[in-house]
Amino acid sequence: MSVRRLAPKELQPAGFAFTPENIEFAQREIAKYPPGRQFSAVIAIMWRAQEQSGGWLPEAAIRAIADMLEMPYIRALEVATFYTMFQLNPVGKKAHVQVCGTTPCMLRGAGELIEVCKNRIHHDPFHLSADGDFSWEEVECAGACVNAPMVQIWKDTYEDLNPDLLNKVLDGFASGNPPKPGPQNGRQYAAPITGPTTLKTGGINVASSENDGPALTDAESKKPTEAANVQERPAPKAPAADATEKNPPR
Ligand code: FES
Repeated sequence: MSVRRLAPKELQPAGFAFTPENIEFAQREIAKYPPGRQFSAVIAIMWRAQEQSGGWLPEAAIRAIADMLEMPYIRALEVATFYTMFQLNPVGKKAHVQVCGTTPCMLRGAGELIEVCKNRIHHDPFHLSADGDFSWEEVECAGACVNAPMVQIWKDTYEDLNPDLLNKVLDGFASGNPPKPGPQNGRQYAAPITGPTTLKTGGINVASSENDGPALTDAESKKPTEAANVQERPAPKAPAADATEKNPPR
């Protein structure tokens, strides 16, 4: 976790005002909570403010939200500086790339994706590219481990990446034509890339040309009156010694 501080004064805009559409959004969010509990809307409204501000949260926006919710500035600042989903410094105009660097993604090549970001955007995270269009950072697990490695850009995830595929994703954002989110290698959601691998053979409920028949044929099924677990029942053993030899019944 890096230190999270507000952007320096020279990067902060002089003021912030919600658009009429976003004021309506904020009012709808506030109305979801009982009177006196309007603080509960803070995260949703902050997220909208971040979207309106080009992907980051200026100090003026944080203060405007605190005023709107009638909460102390320090409470709003606590929220903004605690949650890493809020960017406190300007990010790339076209894309801020969040590369997952947690173990499953790292084992599947996240290090190479980070190299792409270093070479193509900036050597260091949280710095803008020369044209100001891109920035990047490494984040912890984004919850798409089954499609590792992946990146998140704005609210969407781009998965099953390698350096070439990430470059294509970034090309799409650069040209204003982002690719469809999700797996980038042709995989369907989290399904096996090689197609179905289970219930293809031997299943009794699968109708398929590849089905080689039921797992249990009629001849192998249990005989009438036989217990279902008859084949698992251990064979009876003879007693170690017959006690009746020494002690015959009278
Ligand atoms: S480890 Fe990368 S998405 Fe979970």
